[in-house]
Amino acid sequence: MQADQLDDHLVGSIGYSPTASVISNPRKQDNPIEVVNQAFCGLTGYSESEILGRNCRFLAGEATEPWLTERIRDGVRTRQPVLVDILNYKRDGTPFRNAVLVTPLFADDGNLRWFLGSQVELAHESTAVFTGRRERAVIAVKALPPRQRQVLELIARGLLNKQIAWQLGISEKTVKMHRALLMERLGVPTSADLIRLAVEAGL
Ligand SMILES: Cc1cc2nc3c(=O)[nH]c(=O)nc-3n(C[C@H](O)[C@H](O)[C@H](O)COP(=O)(O)O)c2cc1C
Repeated sequence: MQADQLDDHLVGSIGYSPTASVISNPRKQDNPIEVVNQAFCGLTGYSESEILGRNCRFLAGEATEPWLTERIRDGVRTRQPVLVDILNYKRDGTPFRNAVLVTPLFADDGNLRWFLGSQVELAHESTAVFTGRRERAVIAVKALPPRQRQVLELIARGLLNKQIAWQLGISEKTVKMHRALLMERLGVPTSADLIRLAVEAGL
């Protein structure tokens, strides 16, 4: 039931996201990717069958900054969201600057179930796109009413509707309504994009 809920609301939804995204399973040896979307295949040049079952480290290569990989490793170990701007490689060897978000997703019982990864290519080795996205995210989140902002903070921590409802002392139905309003207001198509925007905004 809990896994189904996650599958319905988040894991399944990355298929609809225009942002390159993967879902990995930390309950399996070496945290393999179990879901990947079309945008990820388009960005990296790998096909779904070449990706599923592998750890996402295959995007790293010769000049990938070890200290940035270390930050991702640390986030995975401590189950905290990480957003880094790391050098990665496409299937054909082309390097690209990847503003990657890696964040845990928890089940209703509070146990870690998945990691969501989302990758945005930055233009020409510059951080301008990244900064632009972050600025927009900060401004949009600042303009939210307090309750919606609170809901977004908990969404960004990887909590599901039920846990958010419990933490805020509101009904699950109200949380769902806030989630839908947030997606509409912030102009994002999926919960995965909502999480990314919240982390970019520094929540
Ligand atoms: C969901 C998820 C997505 C990830 N996406 C990337 C990525 O896009 N680029 C990257 O360099 N590392 C990414 N990583 C990090 C690597 O999978 C791996 O955790 C990292 O290389 C450190 O582990 P290692 O030292 O065993 O390689 C991701 C990790 C997870 C869990």
